[in-house]
Amino acid sequence: MQVSIDISNAISFLPEGSIESIQPEIASAHDKLMSGTGAGNDFLGWIRLPSQKDPELFEKINRSATRIRRLAEVFVIIGIGGSYLGSRAVIEALSPSFLSLLSDRKNPVVIYAGENLSEDYHADLMDLLNRYSYAVAIISKSGTTTEPAVAFRLIKKHLEQKYGKRGARERIIAITDASKGALKKISGIEGYETFVIPDDIGGRYSVLTPVGLLPIAVAGLDITRLLEGAIEMEQVTRRKSDVDLNPAALYAAIRNILYRTGKTTEIMVTYQPQLVILTEWWKQLYGESEGKEGKGIFPAGVTFTTDLHSMGQFIQEGTRNLFETVLSVKRSGRELRIPTDADNNDGLNFLAGKTLSEVNCQAELGTLMAHVDGGVPNIRISIPSLDEYNLGELIYFYEFACALSGYTLGVNPFDQPGVEAYKRNMFALLGKPGF
Ligand code: PA5
Repeated sequence: MQVSIDISNAISFLPEGSIESIQPEIASAHDKLMSGTGAGNDFLGWIRLPSQKDPELFEKINRSATRIRRLAEVFVIIGIGGSYLGSRAVIEALSPSFLSLLSDRKNPVVIYAGENLSEDYHADLMDLLNRYSYAVAIISKSGTTTEPAVAFRLIKKHLEQKYGKRGARERIIAITDASKGALKKISGIEGYETFVIPDDIGGRYSVLTPVGLLPIAVAGLDITRLLEGAIEMEQVTRRKSDVDLNPAALYAAIRNILYRTGKTTEIMVTYQPQLVILTEWWKQLYGESEGKEGKGIFPAGVTFTTDLHSMGQFIQEGTRNLFETVLSVKRSGRELRIPTDADNNDGLNFLAGKTLSEVNCQAELGTLMAHVDGGVPNIRISIPSLDEYNLGELIYFYEFACALSGYTLGVNPFDQPGVEAYKRNMFALLGKPGF
């Protein structure tokens, strides 16, 4: 197993005996997940999804991705929440930082629409789509979510004007429910290629279904390795509920203990800007799964060292309701050494010969010590490097821990009733029939 968890810098903040006393609660949450007897038990399809890998589906995804790669310079993912964050997280974590500016790229640049209602953003997008060949995936489990539906209406029209009805058809892929929703209906009428989001998998647990796999494959990444990593973590986490043997159980236990001591905000920290969207995915997973019934740990995210120059002050000395979970990547993919300078006018020769990673690593250690001294418990989740396998493990780790943690908190981690409130008001204000 590649993912490891270190709680040594959280221990001093935990009441004595608290790990032992929460273990039965974690075991009971694990049992509910495994036996399907907990709340939301009709949404447990993600648990065995990696090991039940369907080779035909994989072939279909890879075939479709190859076709899109030949056809398009740009691939537009239309979706919101769980329908785009997972794929974007993996693609951004594993792609070169300035991909869109590289003229020798082999795969389409993946961009996103329908995850906001900004007029400027979508107008700029239309301008861009005039200039590049493109294809789209419209992803919506319900098939009725307003933001992606509006973006799809705009882009479908643009595609049909640019390529004609037939040309547009071969550039649209719909990923949605097997039988319900407006998107399913449109796909049938128009004859789009479709992929199904299984009934028993909710949006934020869907990254390892075609929702995530197709965009990730179009980006040229290895979805088989991603799944292999997830399978490894599935095997580890499903088997046992002991915090000593199951890293997801340990993470769920520690964050619940900290929550009970008043640490109501968890900050996910990364030192790699390419993990910003992974943090966003994590925030959505934990925020929607746990924040309900007046309970829940507020999931926040920062990127260091960038945010040490903004949020660092608050974390060091502000309200003491925080704990940090650092997602640490041990090895970088590239090497860049700091050069010696004969004049040393900037006084940086003490760093000469070191790699940026060595400096980043000491920044991580120095920050950890400062924040722990400042009263912020620290959990450290490490992976050896950024690749498909390790991200597959990590994704499944976070999903499993989230479900365990939600049950331990006493909520249903698979529903999101609160998301409806803004929609009702917005529809009423916009005059939608029936609201
Ligand atoms: O996790 C969830 O269920 C949500 O975030 C959904 O993914 C999001 O609301 C989009 O829903 P849909 O895929 O139905 O358009």
